[in-house]
Amino acid sequence: MAINAAPVRTVPFLRKLTRHPRVPVSALEEASGQAGGELVRLAMGPFRPFLVTHPDHVQHVLRQNQPNYVRQGMFWEPLGPLIGNGILSDGDTWAESRSILQPLFTAKYVNSLAERMAEIITELIDETVVPERPFDIARGVSAIVHPTIVRLFFGSKISIADINRLVPAYDVAVTAKSLRLVLPFVSERVPLPGDLAFRRAIKAIDEVVYPRITEARAQRQEGEDVVSRLCRARHDDTGPSGDRRIRDDLVAMHGASTETSATALTWVWPVLAGHPEIAAKVYEEVDRVVGDDPVSTAHLPHLTYLRMFVNELLRLYPPGWILPRLALEDDEVGGVPIPAGSTVMLSPYLTHRLERFWERPLEFDPERFAPGAERGRHRYAYWPFGAGPHVCLGQHLFMMEAPLLIAGILRKYRPVVHARGQVRPRLASSLRPSAGLRMTLVPKDRAA
Ligand code: HEM
Repeated sequence: MAINAAPVRTVPFLRKLTRHPRVPVSALEEASGQAGGELVRLAMGPFRPFLVTHPDHVQHVLRQNQPNYVRQGMFWEPLGPLIGNGILSDGDTWAESRSILQPLFTAKYVNSLAERMAEIITELIDETVVPERPFDIARGVSAIVHPTIVRLFFGSKISIADINRLVPAYDVAVTAKSLRLVLPFVSERVPLPGDLAFRRAIKAIDEVVYPRITEARAQRQEGEDVVSRLCRARHDDTGPSGDRRIRDDLVAMHGASTETSATALTWVWPVLAGHPEIAAKVYEEVDRVVGDDPVSTAHLPHLTYLRMFVNELLRLYPPGWILPRLALEDDEVGGVPIPAGSTVMLSPYLTHRLERFWERPLEFDPERFAPGAERGRHRYAYWPFGAGPHVCLGQHLFMMEAPLLIAGILRKYRPVVHARGQVRPRLASSLRPSAGLRMTLVPKDRAA
């Protein structure tokens, strides 16, 4: 390929990482601020990935020349034992899994699940919320999000006891490898803290999932849930390789759906606490639209400000904050040569904070998503759900789940968040708030 060699700036990234050892996103934010949307290389010892933030470049990598940029390499390998070789892989195995799972995620099919989802969320809020008792926000949100998704998509095939084993195991699995994700040049042969915990978490997940697959395969699978669909699709492959493919898709789907939703919905509460005037508008809308009724899908089209709030939440705190890719062949992005074998790092978190595309980028302002306000915005300036062939399967689902859960809580309660200092993202493979963030839900008529 003819390449117009343009000089590419290198940012000394390792130095930045040592300044923010627990918060790699801050190191990346600093590097991206320096790059101002230009393509740069991050110097991390022998490893020098490209950082891609400009919407044109994102479009090129995720859409225009997508087959050249695969989910392989140093970042994906550490997570391999968790996500396996299915919907979160690439190439033929990914394409096969996507075609099996896609029909469960069309807007029409997801809308048909909406009323059931509203009922489940209402039941779970009633079951899990203890008013006026402080609780860990991430755990409280997970206790609603995990069973909602599991009941909706995995039917009765995964029990509450299973969920209670899966939730902590996933929690360990997605945080244990964080150090490897930011030190990708360290060989897997060199042990790092977290490796053992990761292996134990995978074992715990497999001990729950494989027996469920054996049971499900022994029965006729006619339902339209994820387990039934995967078992039907692997009907002719009854050996260990078929079981393995079902396991990989189940575990990847469970992780992709619950970890991301729970993380996004954990950010809601510190953001409301930090912006009382925005919170007042959200509360007013929920009171006016939902009142004291159980929240239902009929309310969703009228919760317009809440939807704007959720879009803005995903702009500043997109849970899938870093999407690495490996270039298979030589390419050129924005005039910069990308040699085959290079790692390219994309991040909606960074693109969403570019001054060239967002006014006052660090300010939380739902008005950016008011009807018509998006006109003229670059299509790839906002991509919390990814883009191109790998675009998130669950985005319609999340955009229903989020207002149902938030309005379901706010119709009864007001949050009081107990945070010491500024709430910052912490080290994990999704963009979680600092650990141990707590809040109390106060009945709305008793709130100050
Ligand atoms: C706030 C909520 C969510 C966010 C921010 C989010 C974000 C993303 C992103 C950025 C990707 C692209 C990954 C890549 O290109 O490598 C993705 C893929 C995916 N998401 Fe989501 N997601 C969310 C919720 C969900 C839910 C609720 C589900 C399922 C019910 C789901 C299922 C998936 C699947 C299966 C993929 C892989 C698609 C593919 O590669 O073909 N996600 N998601």
